[in-house]
Parts: sequence; structure tokens; C-alpha cells
Amino acid sequence: EKGGFDHFMLKEIYEQPRSIKDCMRGRIYPEEGKVQLGGIKEFAEKLKNIDRIIIVACGTSWHAGLVGEYLIEEYARIPVEVEYASEFRYRNPIITEKDVVIAISQSGETADTMAAIEMAKERGATIFGICNVAGASIPRLTHAGVYTHAGPEIGVASTKAFTAQVTVLTLMAFYMAQQKGTITTSKLIELLTELDNIPDKIQIALESNDLIKEVAEKIKDSTNCLFLGRGSGFPVALEGALKLKEISYIHAEGYPAAEMKHGPIALIDEEMPVVFIATQNSSYEKVISNIQEVKARKGKVIAIVTQGDTEVKKMADYCIEIPDANEAFLPLIATIPLQLLSYHIAVMRGCNVDQPRNLAKSVTVE
Ligand code: F6R
Repeated sequence: EKGGFDHFMLKEIYEQPRSIKDCMRGRIYPEEGKVQLGGIKEFAEKLKNIDRIIIVACGTSWHAGLVGEYLIEEYARIPVEVEYASEFRYRNPIITEKDVVIAISQSGETADTMAAIEMAKERGATIFGICNVAGASIPRLTHAGVYTHAGPEIGVASTKAFTAQVTVLTLMAFYMAQQKGTITTSKLIELLTELDNIPDKIQIALESNDLIKEVAEKIKDSTNCLFLGRGSGFPVALEGALKLKEISYIHAEGYPAAEMKHGPIALIDEEMPVVFIATQNSSYEKVISNIQEVKARKGKVIAIVTQGDTEVKKMADYCIEIPDANEAFLPLIATIPLQLLSYHIAVMRGCNVDQPRNLAKSVTVE
């Protein structure tokens, strides 16, 4: 059932070109510059007039929410707040009938996310779900929703579910932009044409597997690891750190790269690997200066870079290339090498990657 792979996690990492295609099927029309989301169609009018979106989720799904925030604010120009479901439910948050709450959950059974939905619903908000498991509790609690269609995810650490959640959020951002008129058809044609090619780019990213294994060998005995990124590279860094800690039990932290000098820089010495999302986009130059700061303190730099990069290569100890893409789609590609890196480190350390200690696939108690 592992399809020739050693673990479900690896199989699921390799499924991503296909799972993302499945997620987009019938929803994008690149030639026409159109997005169709049948699941939330009946709210199309309402979307023209909403004041705010609140995203609620836990864990990896919360990281997907942070990517969603960048995309929805950028393209649909609707203010977005991303909340841990567990914190949101126990505050007395301000929610009105003009708010849309998007609950993200792979399993559709997470206790805190369900409680957050119930509270927001009582206060009159419209609730959308982004779930992977059809017919689970969360899809039944929400007013409308969009399934991720990633297929069953067996590995406890979320991989293909995360990229499918990000894909749905990308589609939602474009759909809302289309409804609100904050994007032109020609821009949508351009973006959707590129989105349609993302599965091929993920396939190319997967081809760095052997190189990533070599990097894993070099850092597998570390006790700590930092992951740094800016813009939409920041949630990618958070997700990279979470993956590493949950399956390899190495302590890891994700930070916005610029926050490093406000504290974490004190941790850097020759023992500390620092993984940078250093692709060529609007924050490239800034990330380069952050890399210099780490190198000046003898940290070991592992950089995720755009194919053909020369600048970062001069400084980093190890570079892993990914295909160039519009910044909007960066998280979908940059996440792939980080999943593989955690996987190989965990295997080398003899960990049970598919069933890490203390974790469960669905967290049905708070
Ligand atoms: C991490 C992971 C967890 C889940 C979290 C939410 O790899 O799997 O952090 O993302 O427990 O679960 P769902 O998405 O099922 O609500």
C-alpha cells in the first residue's frame, strides 16, 4: 500500500504533483482567466461585501492559513486575521454578520477548530471549511466549503494535505478577487496559467531528493535548527520547523528572518544549522543580508534558492534549488525540499516517521 516507498510520508510527499492537480481540477480555467468554486458559489454575492476574514486552524493547517492571509490580502484586498482555534475560542472575539470565518482542517475532526466554528456561527458569521476528509464533522458544521481532494493522508505529519490547503486558499483568493473586481482578467490568465504548471515544478523540486539526503546526513546530529524566511517564505519556515521537530525530535524554530536579530541570533554558533528560504523574489536582497549575519557567526547555512542562483551560493554551505515561480506560488514549491529534509533526517535518526511519538492523526480532544 506504500506503493514501493519505505514510508507513507515519503509516498505522500511524492504524490503532491498529482494531489495538487486533483485539487485544481474543474476549478481553474486558465484560458478564460476564471476560477470556479462550486462549494462556495452560493456566497459569491456576499463575498463582494465582506469586511473581514478570520482564518481558524491548528498546527500545519494554521500555517496554511498564514499563506492564505498573504494571498487574500494581496489579491482580494480583504483584511485577514489568522487565529489559533484554541486561542480564538476562549477569547471574547469581535465577530459580526459581515465576517467570513474560514476553518482549515485536514481531518475535519479537530476539537478546537470545531469549537471555534460553533462560537463564530452563534455570533452570525458565515463559515467556510477547507477540509480533506469528505463528510467529516467540520464540513457538516460549516455553511459551505471547498474540499482539498488530496486523498487519504496516512502519515501523521501533514505533507500533501498542507500543499492542497494552500492550493485551495490560492483559488479562494483569486475567486474573491474575481468577485470583488480587484484583479483583471488578463492578470488572472497569467496567474492561472502559471498555477496550472506548478505540479510540474513540484516534480522538478522532488528531483533534488538525493542532494537533500546528503544535506540531511550533514545536519542529522544537530540538537537545534532554525528556519528563516520572509513574506510568504515565513509560513514555509514555520512549517519546515514543525515538520523537523515532530518527526525527528530535533528542536527547531521558524522565524521571520528579520526577527533573528531580536533574539534568536544569540543561539547561532558553528553547531547551529539555519535553513533559509532564499528564493529570488521581493525579499531576496534582505534575506541575503540575513544570511551574511548568520555566516559572520559561523552558523551552517542551508538555503532553498531559485534555480541558477549565484549570489546565495557564494555564502551558503548547502544550496537546494527549486524552479522559479511567481511569489504567490512560492510556498507550494519551497515546502517540498523541507519535507524531504525532515523525512531523511528522521529516518537517519531511526525515528518512526509515519507515527511519531505522542502524536495522533486527528486531535479530537482539546
Ligand atoms: C502537523 C500536523 C498537525 C495538524 C493539526 C491540525 O504535521 O499534522 O499540526 O496540522 O493537528 O489538524 P487538522 O488539519 O486535521 O485539523
